[in-house]
Amino acid sequence: MKFDFDKKVDRKNIYSMKWNVGQDELPMWVADMDFETAPVVKEAILDRAMNGTFGYTDIPDSWYEAYQNWWSSRHNFEIEKDWLIYSTGAIPTISSTVRKLTSPGEKVLVMTPIYHIFFNSIVNNGRFIVESPLQYENGNYSVDYEDLEEKLSDPQLSLMIMCNPHNPNGYIYSREELAKIGGLCKKYGVYVISDEVHCDLLDPGYEYCPFAAASKDCLEMSISCLAPSKTFNIAGITTSAVMVYDPIIRHKVWRQLNTDECGEPNAFAVTVTEAAFNHGGEWLDELRAYVLGNKDYVRNFIGEKLPKIKVVSGHATYMLWLDISALSDDSADFAQRLRDKTGLYVSDGAEFSGNGNRFLRINLACPRDYVVEAMKRLEYFLENCEF
Ligand SMILES: Cc1ncc(COP(=O)(O)O)c(C=O)c1O
Repeated sequence: MKFDFDKKVDRKNIYSMKWNVGQDELPMWVADMDFETAPVVKEAILDRAMNGTFGYTDIPDSWYEAYQNWWSSRHNFEIEKDWLIYSTGAIPTISSTVRKLTSPGEKVLVMTPIYHIFFNSIVNNGRFIVESPLQYENGNYSVDYEDLEEKLSDPQLSLMIMCNPHNPNGYIYSREELAKIGGLCKKYGVYVISDEVHCDLLDPGYEYCPFAAASKDCLEMSISCLAPSKTFNIAGITTSAVMVYDPIIRHKVWRQLNTDECGEPNAFAVTVTEAAFNHGGEWLDELRAYVLGNKDYVRNFIGEKLPKIKVVSGHATYMLWLDISALSDDSADFAQRLRDKTGLYVSDGAEFSGNGNRFLRINLACPRDYVVEAMKRLEYFLENCEF
């Protein structure tokens, strides 16, 4: 390997949110990586910093081209320049779009368990969450189309938030599934925000289909959140894009992003995006292979030594979704006791709603040594606690 993913970086001294934990605790919760970003990105940040001036920044043509080329070459999807708008992040975009496309008291649909911050974007704006729970059978999730259609048909519901690929279970929706969802949304006049920030973090050999690429309906009904933030571990730089085909919806989203003051880049946002998308491909491919190694380690360890836990077989994200239903149906209590007893800090599945109360989410974007240590702690916990 050309890049060193085994390297341990001290993140406590940079006020890392993930590492704001006790002395011997091992944080494997929030979705950021313990790896350094790609060397090309680091160099671009250093170069930009050496200029020494940090005033206001424009969005140059080269920023659009970086997104267009990346999606064309890696995801086989041609984006037109006009469709793209700068935004400081996926969540600011989602909250803004909820405010613009719906009114207080209306409903927004999510398929749960799902990335929990979406709930804040809905509830904090005075809208109601409507859940269409994903079906879970034999360790696999699938969309419950009957339930989805019934809920989409509610005239009080005009927006859905998708996570494509899905966080927390790592599920990669097929083109057919996305097209079916898009068809139902078109039928009932429901716009879809497709959050695609995890789309580059797939096991080697796997591909994702952008929601907008799945069908004409999907293209017309979607507002897609794209970003280099998860892929290159630069969420703290706050840089992303919104892609909207429909010019009327695009105008609305753009106006609201500006009204909410999240349409302006910081001094590093453009440079970093261009470095990542134009030159970061080789690093990303190695990262994906390394993360798969971590996932395999956990799958094997759990398979051999902790048979009461089942690993859900998603192929996206650097997280694994662990089914602890044979041990507990109170994941908050389980996760807290695990942390108290061993210092291993994972996400409590109940946060993601749906059937999440019987799951844990563990973040494996870290050097292998941490993963090995995490499994030792999990094993110790199961051997020494009552369930
Ligand atoms: C699915 C998903 N969307 C959005 C975010 C956050 O995106 P941003 O930092 O661009 O607001 C995360 C972070 O974990 C995420 O998992």
